[in-house]
Amino acid sequence: MHSFELLSQRFSLHFEQRHFPESPASLYDPNEYFLQLGGKRVRPVCCLMGNELFGDIHNDAWPVATAIELFHNFTLIHDDIMDKAPLRRGMETVHTKFGDNTALLAGDVMLVKAYEYLAGIDPAILPAILKLFNDTAREVCEGQQLDMDFEKAETVHLDEYLDMIRLKTSVLLAASLKMGAILGGSGERNQNLLYAFGQKLGMAFQVQDDYLDAFGDPQKFGKQVGGDILANKKTFLLIHALEMTTPAQKKELEAQLAGNAPDKIAKVLSIYHACGVDAWALELKNKYLDEALNHLEDIAVLSKRKEPLQNLASFLVKRDH
Ligand code: IPE
Ligand code: IPE
Ligand code: MG
Ligand code: MG
Ligand code: MG
Repeated sequence: MHSFELLSQRFSLHFEQRHFPESPASLYDPNEYFLQLGGKRVRPVCCLMGNELFGDIHNDAWPVATAIELFHNFTLIHDDIMDKAPLRRGMETVHTKFGDNTALLAGDVMLVKAYEYLAGIDPAILPAILKLFNDTAREVCEGQQLDMDFEKAETVHLDEYLDMIRLKTSVLLAASLKMGAILGGSGERNQNLLYAFGQKLGMAFQVQDDYLDAFGDPQKFGKQVGGDILANKKTFLLIHALEMTTPAQKKELEAQLAGNAPDKIAKVLSIYHACGVDAWALELKNKYLDEALNHLEDIAVLSKRKEPLQNLASFLVKRDH
């Protein structure tokens, strides 16, 4: 069993190579550009940790982890078009640098590449992995569409937001862990508990993502701070603020949402601060972290084996990028 640092180093050795042909460079260079920007590699490491919870790393864990990271990067390239995001991992997004059409195709071909890696694994485990991969990919699309729908919706309830982030973010973390458990030969009960751990952890992860989008340090965050505010994303911050504000603040907030004033980010942030969203964020994160850790506790393996996952969970909810 290994730590996040060690497993991400080992994953890098497999992953950091060219994944695409040379030509046409106009299609493949954007993908190579994006992949070499790095990222935390959380999901492939989740797959490796899920595997190691139950046994030695299976040879096929490497192509499965690679497919997961490629799938994640595909969703980011398309997400940045949808969110009109200029920055990612501290650098220009693919659509900003190469145009929307190229970014669409670069994302598409990255998804195809993910399936190529999956197609090469042991035929005895492929059906289980593929079913989970496909169910997850479909759910991510559903979550992303709800995220877009909510930008235009006047009111979004906290429950609707929570289900949207479960779909767009949590299920991929959960599935990465469960694929690892399948590779590690775990029984179904443990697989499902690990999936439940991942779902709750994913909720805390997206709450932190939304928090950082508003309050992150631009030097560390790597994305445009305030991007969610500009796009009228119905994050828990906005949902909570709309519930907690005084009538005057609420009117101001609604006026900001309706327009695109040059000081929109600053104005909305000052209302967020005034209604104590910080404390609320911490409460929400800790609730999901506790629920996640309870599921992990219930998994029937020696507690010592769970330590890397416990450490990963605390890192993810405290991260600054
Ligand atoms: C960003 O994921 C997308 C979300 C689901 C919030 P990460 O924060 O894991 O992005 P990278 O891969 O480390 O850049
Ligand atoms: C993205 O959520 C989730 C997926 C890419 C599926 P966000 O839009 O909040 O992610 P970031 O903040 O751009 O990384
Ligand atoms: Mg985005
Ligand atoms: Mg998005
Ligand atoms: Mg975000």
